[in-house]
Amino acid sequence: MARLSLLVLAVVVCVAQLGSAAMVTKVLPRAVAHRGYSSAAPENTLAALKMSIEAGVDGVEIDLQVTKDGVIVLLHDEDLDRTTNCTGSISTYNFLPASGPPQLSECDAGSWFGPQFAGAKIPSLAEGLAVTVPAGVFMVLDMKQTGPGIGALLADVIPDPEVQGLTVASCWTFDQMAEVRNALNATRIQYLTGSLEAFEADPDAFFADMALRGVDGFSVSRKVITPEFVAAAKSHFMAVAVWTVNAAADMRIMFSYSVDAILTDYVTRLTTTLAEANAAEERASRSGYTKNSTVALASIFSFAAGALVCILVFIAIRLMRRRQRRAARSPRGVTSPTGGSYGMIP
Ligand SMILES: *[C@@H]1O[C@H](CO)[C@@H](O)[C@H](O)[C@H]1NC(C)=O
Ligand SMILES: *[C@@H]1O[C@H](CO)[C@@H](O)[C@H](O)[C@H]1NC(C)=O
Repeated sequence: MARLSLLVLAVVVCVAQLGSAAMVTKVLPRAVAHRGYSSAAPENTLAALKMSIEAGVDGVEIDLQVTKDGVIVLLHDEDLDRTTNCTGSISTYNFLPASGPPQLSECDAGSWFGPQFAGAKIPSLAEGLAVTVPAGVFMVLDMKQTGPGIGALLADVIPDPEVQGLTVASCWTFDQMAEVRNALNATRIQYLTGSLEAFEADPDAFFADMALRGVDGFSVSRKVITPEFVAAAKSHFMAVAVWTVNAAADMRIMFSYSVDAILTDYVTRLTTTLAEANAAEERASRSGYTKNSTVALASIFSFAAGALVCILVFIAIRLMRRRQRRAARSPRGVTSPTGGSYGMIP
């Protein structure tokens, strides 16, 4: 009875240990459309958001600016010159008809990109969320130059914690982080940076500071990101997104760094490259080997440990059986009725 349960236990341990070797696989990053989907549609418009959702993104990244009458809108530059037929600062235009002229709705945000987008408007954040939330796509809010009071404005647009949960605030400044942290409790905060100098100077102090500020993760420029930084952030349970990755070769390098999200202007290129990597990972994990050397080492180690456990259990069972057989024949030194002693067999 005891032997049977030992055997069952041995089989379970063997299978679990060998199985874990195959389960060590890599998690591929989320695909995020940069500025809505700026290679296919005019950036930061509803048309761009809809096209990126059709292309199968996990998230969209947009930029925030605030109008004269205090409405948060999707716009990259502080002025309207590059992406509309209007000129001047966004802070001199009104969004709500009741606020009077000049009205932002009179600016065409699509014609500059292509005639098929003529008449596209600069949308409010609320209009943008009305497109992304029903699709279950998360929205990364690049806070741009937004200043004091932005937290309260955001909380007005996104009061629902469930919708907040679909948003990530990318903050350039510590003031913006505090604004978001105080006004929205389910929006994740990431530190948006093009420099890792503070991390490189003193990693421990850097992460302690970030944790104190309530940072959940980072959005780092492709030009400065390192695998060391990604690994360090992960060891502090913080996510890492990288911007803006447009070449397939660079996308694959970012997969190898194990970043959590990739921002790109070329959404279908990213989803295709991800699908290829996914298929390769699947083939590799079936054979117990993956391209990523750390993962491969972990798999090999896990497999070796499993094999060792199996061998040890096998030897233990054999020893036990031999002992039991010997004991069954006769205990050492006991004289049989015929007078022969069996205990002395060498
Ligand atoms: C911009 O384009 C819109 C739509 O075509 C037009 O109504 C508006 O007058 C234009 N504004 C300027 C300043 O050219
Ligand atoms: C979230 O914040 C609001 C006010 O900003 C507060 O009333 C609410 O209790 C908070 N919810 C949680 C779960 O902390």
